Amino acid sequence: MSKSQTIKINWEMTDPPVPARRWRDLAALEGACQAGDCAGGLGAGGLGAGGLGAVPGGAPAEATIETTLGFPAGTIRTLHGAFAAGLTRFDGWDASGSATPPIAASKFAAAKAAARIYKRGVPWRGDQPEPRPAQLHGSYQVTIYPDSVDLTDLLPHDVDYVIIDGNVARSWGGKLWPGQHRNPSGPKIFEMQLSENEKTLASVANILEHAPSPTHRVPPSPSPSPSPASTRWCVIGGGILTDVAAFAAGIKGAEITFVPTTLLAMADACIGGKTGVNFSPWGKNQLGLFYFPREVRVWPGWLQTLPPRHLAAGVAECIKHSLLDPGAFKPPPRSYVDQIADVIHVKANVVKEDPAETGRRATLNFGHTLAHALEAEALAAQERGEFDQAPDEQILHGEAVAVGLAFAVILSQMKCRLSENDKQWVFSLLRDGGCWFDLKTLTRRCGGASLQWDSLWRRMCGDKKQSVKGDDATEFVLLSKIGEVHQEGAAWTVRVSEPEAAAAWTALMSLLR
Ligand SMILES: NC(=O)c1ccc[n+]([C@@H]2O[C@H](COP(=O)([O-])OP(=O)(O)OC[C@H]3O[C@@H](n4cnc5c(N)ncnc54)[C@H](O)[C@@H]3O)[C@@H](O)[C@H]2O)c1
Ligand SMILES: [Zn+2]
Repeated sequence: MSKSQTIKINWEMTDPPVPARRWRDLAALEGACQAGDCAGGLGAGGLGAGGLGAVPGGAPAEATIETTLGFPAGTIRTLHGAFAAGLTRFDGWDASGSATPPIAASKFAAAKAAARIYKRGVPWRGDQPEPRPAQLHGSYQVTIYPDSVDLTDLLPHDVDYVIIDGNVARSWGGKLWPGQHRNPSGPKIFEMQLSENEKTLASVANILEHAPSPTHRVPPSPSPSPSPASTRWCVIGGGILTDVAAFAAGIKGAEITFVPTTLLAMADACIGGKTGVNFSPWGKNQLGLFYFPREVRVWPGWLQTLPPRHLAAGVAECIKHSLLDPGAFKPPPRSYVDQIADVIHVKANVVKEDPAETGRRATLNFGHTLAHALEAEALAAQERGEFDQAPDEQILHGEAVAVGLAFAVILSQMKCRLSENDKQWVFSLLRDGGCWFDLKTLTRRCGGASLQWDSLWRRMCGDKKQSVKGDDATEFVLLSKIGEVHQEGAAWTVRVSEPEAAAAWTALMSLLR
């Protein structure tokens, strides 16, 4: 590619997408706690979109809930900030007793209180009219730069805060801002190395604590985009750092430019405005905001230093895109990297049509139901201290997606008449892309001596993206042929019973053996 290419992505959504989750009224919160099971009263704390520092008071009850539930200190304060900014993707606190995994009886009261507070926000008081959700819209540009770009031109010059992946800083730091590391008027640079286990509120807090205060004003614009007096941030790194930094930017109301440095982040994570962190014990991406970047700057040159395993993980998401829109770009032998603009177009087209995931955007979850369950198994094994492999053995998101794709096409053949040829075609894409695992490797990467179907199924039923909950069936995005997601009426997902899913799992296991 010799010239830059650009893709403009418009977005439109109501704010907040789920009005009941809006944090509104501390007095009502205190009332709810006193009337119920909240251990200790909640001190009144002022909430604001200013991040962690803006939340005084409330310490005793917060600490009680945190201690009882075993959350790190500061968790709830960060949640306050998130709610003040209109937390939009949160349904992890299922205190109904059927949570996955179930909440211990000793923790139930505190969980229930916490669920009241955080799952739905504080109920709007009946004596005041509930505000109507605002209709918001905006846009951002994705620019794909040619190999020949000068790195100093690639980065925005007007940012106050740069959050950069540690490995990227090591490989590329010297070329990025010649001289500016020592220049006091340059941006504040914060280096951060995060693993999937560290995709947490604590990392969000860390980014917020290092953020400089606003130095200039930008034109007013409603959430989920920056607030009037915001700082300008730039995040340089993969999908983990981007998800965490953008979540922090959303809480702070800062403008953020994404400079993705992994194939996965270029093809997927940087497009569409979903940000979020994992939240134990409920798993992957359970807390999040829709928060759109100021712009996305894609330069495939970063991939020269990306380890092959991470490249293959990115290939898995590219394969997913190719299965959703086969006309969009050519699968190997033409490399996905060479066609990155077309790969990005696939996701861009979907998120333009359905930014808030009320319909077609669900198709991007193809392969992800099992993937998230596998990742959650690995995270849980880590947290229990039972992950007996080296930490970098842990399954990567893209690797889990690759397995999830294989599983989903087996189910697609069973449920939606995907042809044998199409199924084999997907398997061959995965093999050629270097993202096909034998069972031993998969099991090791999930941290255990064996993979338990019952546990995976429970996790899949609790996956936040499912519209049907319960232990007997869950929803999957499936294909009727390559490029055609099976639709039942207006639904983009297909209900799959436990015996059907178990049969697909057995078939997959025998393929991987
Ligand atoms: N928000 C979304 O819509 C979305 C979509 C897909 C995936 N995701 C998320 O993305 C995350 C995975 O992202 P990822 O695969 O980019 O992982 P990552 O961010 O961990 O990056 C992979 C590894 O490569 C290193 N690295 C990054 N760029 C490098 C470079 N150019 N050279 C050398 N090393 C480099 C990093 O330090 C890290 O060790 C998951 O948490 C997933 O949930 C989000
Ligand atoms: Zn993904």
